[in-house]
Amino acid sequence: MTRVLVLNGPNLGRLGSREPDIYGSGTLDDLRAQLEAVASASVEIDLRQTDDEATLIGWLHEAVDTRSPVILNPAAFTHYSYALSDAAKLVTAAGLILVEVHLSNPHAREEFRHTSVISAVATGVIAGFGFDSYLLALDLIGRRLP
Ligand code: DQA
Repeated sequence: MTRVLVLNGPNLGRLGSREPDIYGSGTLDDLRAQLEAVASASVEIDLRQTDDEATLIGWLHEAVDTRSPVILNPAAFTHYSYALSDAAKLVTAAGLILVEVHLSNPHAREEFRHTSVISAVATGVIAGFGFDSYLLALDLIGRRLP
């Protein structure tokens, strides 16, 4: 059984009511249900959200220790958290997949969202497809499992 950590950063606990024109009207529980519906029998979805940088870093350390692939939406931390970037690098340096995902396409939005300090250390990036960004990430993780 492979556990996929689906980690969500600040303000994503407000999905459903937060700027639905940008992020859609689905909640994190809806997202979890969608991921579980498509996950293969050998994959367990462990979806979490925090507004706290240290907690998110701790979860990335846990991914290394438990050898878990990661789907990470760092939310606003994407744009400035070097601490999170270093933690994400630990994951990929350990040979684990880390897919950076975004619901929106940050490059089509405000200038400050055009920079990601995570992308360079991620295995890859999927952005702009709403919940499908996560579903695509899960699909490719499944394809790359041994
Ligand atoms: C986001 C994009 C970020 O710029 C923003 O701060 C978020 C959500 C997205 O999923 O589109 O909180 O990561």
